[in-house]
Amino acid sequence: MLFVKRKLWTISSSIFLVIGIGILIVISNLFLMFKQRQNTIHMNNILSNLKLQMNQIENSSRIYKSFENDLQSIVTTVECVGPLYNQSCLYKNLYYTNRGFWALSLKETNLSLPGVRLEALATVDYRPNHRVFDTYEELHQFVRFSIDPIVLPGVTIHFNQRWHKNIGHALFDGLYPAYVALIRFAPKHLRIFRIFVGLDDANCNNCFSEDVYSRFAGGGFIKSNIIDMIMPNRWLLFEELILGSGMMCQRCIQSNYQLAGGVELDGSRLFRDRMYKQHGIIPIDIRKNHSAEKRDPKIPLNTYIIHNKRFTTEEQEEIQMAISEINNYTDKHINKSLDDIKKLPYPLINVFYLNYRNITAKTNVSNELIDNDFIAQLRVLRDMDIHITGPGTGQMYQTFLRDGSININLGGLNPYKKEKTPIAYPSFLEQYVTAGTPYIKGLYYPINKRRDGITRIELVKLIKQAAQLIMQGFSIPVKAKDNLAPDGQVFVEQCENDKEFCSLVTIRKSGYFWCNNMWTEDLVHERRQWAPGGIPIGDSNVSCSFNRTLLRLLREKYAIEYRPGRE
Ligand SMILES: *[C@@H]1O[C@H](CO)[C@@H](O)[C@H](O)[C@H]1NC(C)=O
Ligand SMILES: *[C@@H]1O[C@H](CO)[C@@H](O)[C@H](O)[C@H]1NC(C)=O
Ligand SMILES: *[C@@H]1O[C@H](CO)[C@@H](O)[C@H](O)[C@H]1NC(C)=O
Ligand SMILES: *[C@@H]1O[C@H](CO)[C@@H](O)[C@H](O)[C@H]1NC(C)=O
Ligand SMILES: *[C@@H]1O[C@H](CO)[C@@H](O)[C@H](O)[C@H]1NC(C)=O
Ligand SMILES: *[C@@H]1O[C@H](CO)[C@@H](O)[C@H](O)[C@H]1NC(C)=O
Ligand SMILES: *[C@@H]1O[C@H](CO)[C@@H](O)[C@H](O)[C@H]1NC(C)=O
Ligand SMILES: *[C@@H]1O[C@H](CO)[C@@H](O)[C@H](O)[C@H]1NC(C)=O
Ligand SMILES: *[C@@H]1O[C@H](CO)[C@@H](O)[C@H](O)[C@H]1NC(C)=O
Ligand SMILES: *[C@@H]1O[C@H](CO)[C@@H](O)[C@H](O)[C@H]1NC(C)=O
Repeated sequence: MLFVKRKLWTISSSIFLVIGIGILIVISNLFLMFKQRQNTIHMNNILSNLKLQMNQIENSSRIYKSFENDLQSIVTTVECVGPLYNQSCLYKNLYYTNRGFWALSLKETNLSLPGVRLEALATVDYRPNHRVFDTYEELHQFVRFSIDPIVLPGVTIHFNQRWHKNIGHALFDGLYPAYVALIRFAPKHLRIFRIFVGLDDANCNNCFSEDVYSRFAGGGFIKSNIIDMIMPNRWLLFEELILGSGMMCQRCIQSNYQLAGGVELDGSRLFRDRMYKQHGIIPIDIRKNHSAEKRDPKIPLNTYIIHNKRFTTEEQEEIQMAISEINNYTDKHINKSLDDIKKLPYPLINVFYLNYRNITAKTNVSNELIDNDFIAQLRVLRDMDIHITGPGTGQMYQTFLRDGSININLGGLNPYKKEKTPIAYPSFLEQYVTAGTPYIKGLYYPINKRRDGITRIELVKLIKQAAQLIMQGFSIPVKAKDNLAPDGQVFVEQCENDKEFCSLVTIRKSGYFWCNNMWTEDLVHERRQWAPGGIPIGDSNVSCSFNRTLLRLLREKYAIEYRPGRE
């Protein structure tokens, strides 16, 4: 089309040189008419190609859906899913250059750009830059001749990632949320895709999470920081790009205190299964109805206590005693007949103490198939039946347990380093991960006994209970609320009955750091920003409002012992 136009210009100008002004007027009039007709044809083509449609889905912003046959299109369109505050958007033909995304649209399409959160814990919405062209020709001219971008075909997901040195953050504050955003555009999540990520530290040499990202996606891994550095002023064109996952991070509190999308979108299972598959590990055992499927009572249940920096020296001793008590029992009975084993007071259990840091990849198998440390860890995880850990990063691997396993959260004490003072209160931290993982069951150290430290007696009781539950067959899926500790359950009820509080802590408005930074243990024990009078920060006391009367009733209902105290 453009070449034809150029030729016309040449013809008309040569005519201009040869013939007089009068004829020129006739010709240029003819030309204008012709050009107008050309444009009309052209516009019709665009419209029929894009079949622009406005849609309204789930109260999200205006949506432009384009259907079929737009492979040739270079115009930006966008479609969003979810309520405004946690929506994810699928852009077609989104551009990128010099640290910024660009939407290039036509006046006709009246494109308005939705706001999305790009990063875990973000409190402000991001919108790409936007340039609106009067005609498709102008847009095409700009794209083809001014910027001539590198085209990245297929689906790409973009997010910004902080702390990717820590595998827990790398997985559940970046990759998992982005994958949930992709699941919202099913079935794209079942295919390979590309990751375009902004990292806080783009030159980390020992961050094995980068290899995990790359394998998990399967279709490429690009650090935007590197592009910014080595390709200034170069333009990229993403055929399909998904933005908006920052609100699905593990620390982004949901009203049901579950990992976002874990149950609702089957996100945990999909994430787990893709993780194993993309890392070249054969699928793990499936249990559809209950935990006792495909179990042989003669095979001891594999139990791992994960090392945690929060365990005190005394606690480590108690843990070792619990391990040897249970392993002694198993040794004593392991060679008995099946009938005898079935009559035992509790199932056979092998307990191991494990520090994930000690599981690193063996030297390479062949030059093409080099394992990373995470693969080595997955190989251990897939054989676990009971996973026991204190709070923190150790909690972040439970998603990879197989169906019908149990996660025991031993909890810790707040405030940090004041564990032995009278103001200490129990803290299970990431219990929402368990609640968002319906194929495992969560058990918790008894909340009112946790102040006395972890003891052998309680630990042995918990391990026996877990083993019995597994062999008796607890039903799958487990009800999400049952997978929470008592203080987590209090939060869910508080949220149901105190709507103002609930939106305060889930919507993550800008300027409310302390209310966004919520842990249910602080709320339930009325500490920090939830204490009467709030928490002293600088010259003032910061507090977040909630129905304290209701909270106290719920604390009583769940029989959680309360001891007043202020840090
Ligand atoms: C969406 O809008 C409808 C009515 O237009 C309302 O009933 C519903 O509660 C809204 N949903 C959300 C999640 O805001
Ligand atoms: C374009 O957007 C404006 C502002 O959002 C709106 O008022 C107008 O009706 C829209 N026009 C069309 C054709 O959708
Ligand atoms: C988005 O927000 C809605 C409304 O609060 C919530 O029900 C839904 O679970 C959220 N979606 C995800 C994927 O987090
Ligand atoms: C699971 O339950 C369904 C329905 O109750 C039943 O049809 C199926 O056979 C069960 N599967 C197993 C493996 O027990
Ligand atoms: C377990 O057995 C070993 C060796 O028989 C013994 O030394 C240890 O005291 C036993 N531990 C417990 C807790 O019974
Ligand atoms: C059980 O039997 C096997 C094979 O007979 C033997 O190697 C093993 O040492 C026995 N284990 C115990 C704890 O007695
Ligand atoms: C695991 O690593 C810790 C240090 O991180 C070390 O003290 C311990 O001995 C190791 N354990 C095993 C079984 O290798
Ligand atoms: C992989 O194994 C080959 C053959 O044993 C060896 O030459 C090579 O150095 C190894 N590479 C790495 C990265 O360990
Ligand atoms: C903060 O709260 C404490 C305890 O309630 C109180 O003693 C103090 O005066 C308050 N400070 C300010 C600046 O309000
Ligand atoms: C707070 O909760 C209590 C108990 O459910 C209720 O009676 C009271 O009306 C609530 N207060 C407010 C301000 O909503």
